[in-house]
Amino acid sequence: MPDADAADPAFAADVLACFRGRRRAIPARWLYDLAGSELFEAITNLPEYYPTRTETALLQRYSGEVAEHGGAGRAVVEFGSGSSVKTPHLLRAVKPSHYVPIDISGDFLRESADALAADFPSLEVLPVEGDFMHPLALPDAVAALPKLGFFPGSTIGNMVARTSVDLLRSMRNTLGEGALLLIGMDRIKSPDILVPAYDDAQGVTAQFNLNLLHRINRELEGDIPVDRFAHVARWNDSYARIEMHLEAQADVAFQIADERFSMAKGETIHTENSHKYGPRDARLLLRSGGWTMCHEWTDPDNWFALILAEAKPFQTAP
Ligand code: SAH
Ligand code: AVI
Repeated sequence: MPDADAADPAFAADVLACFRGRRRAIPARWLYDLAGSELFEAITNLPEYYPTRTETALLQRYSGEVAEHGGAGRAVVEFGSGSSVKTPHLLRAVKPSHYVPIDISGDFLRESADALAADFPSLEVLPVEGDFMHPLALPDAVAALPKLGFFPGSTIGNMVARTSVDLLRSMRNTLGEGALLLIGMDRIKSPDILVPAYDDAQGVTAQFNLNLLHRINRELEGDIPVDRFAHVARWNDSYARIEMHLEAQADVAFQIADERFSMAKGETIHTENSHKYGPRDARLLLRSGGWTMCHEWTDPDNWFALILAEAKPFQTAP
């Protein structure tokens, strides 16, 4: 088990690269320490944040169909499982013998896995702490079982296209040919709906974003003046994505791990992308990653899609 107090060298490397370079950006996965995971949970209950309640309603309604489309009885492997609160809808329909939640936020993962195991006493719950962007070994107990990957929340949207294709291919390798993947993807819609979902009136998303600076100060001996930064969420139409930034409200100077840095008023640190996908974009992305869509379920407003795809054998092009 990792030492909770030791700074992750990969975190230090990403943060220092951000401030040493000209393009200020930090990979979004570092938003999720224990406080970040708890703040994300609070976001999922906000009135403006439609994705969680929309996807949960889809899972409540259609998990039975996922089982009928070949999901029944497969071991469920969830990528970026977080609180696993949506998962019971799927588990009740698919009735797997084993459930493998994977998440980078270790303490939160273990708490969530324990809670879920208590609710499903006959289910083998085998949490794996790790970064799903790197090859991960699944527990031996599921090696020979047919698998259903589960990647909800539109977490795929937090990656740029090239990285999401890499991840889909790596999931295919991890789950094996013939596996199924149930993936949630948020649809393109009006910025009037999207921007408030990422800049809510209560300021919870702002706290989630600013928590990254608190994490840097705590884990990397930083003294960033957090109160001099503001949360910014903006729609980037050419990339079809919401971007989160942290904008310096004044000229600031600070230290991280004995190195000095400065930022001018108005400069930003880019902390997250949340890409949105139309139906054809989604299918193309999946195909590029080695997955063929079998079925798609959406809500009446077409705001969110739950897609079932299969890792079919590769066919040579005509
Ligand atoms: N699946 C949940 C949580 C989504 S939040 C839902 O649908 O609501 C995104 C989750 O992915 C967080 O729990 C975060 O800790 C995890 N995560 C983000 N990047 C990750 C990475 N590179 N490897 C593993 N987990 C990651
Ligand atoms: C986890 N992920 C899909 C969320 C999203 O909507 O992109 C993270 C988030 N960031 C701000 N609010 C929610």
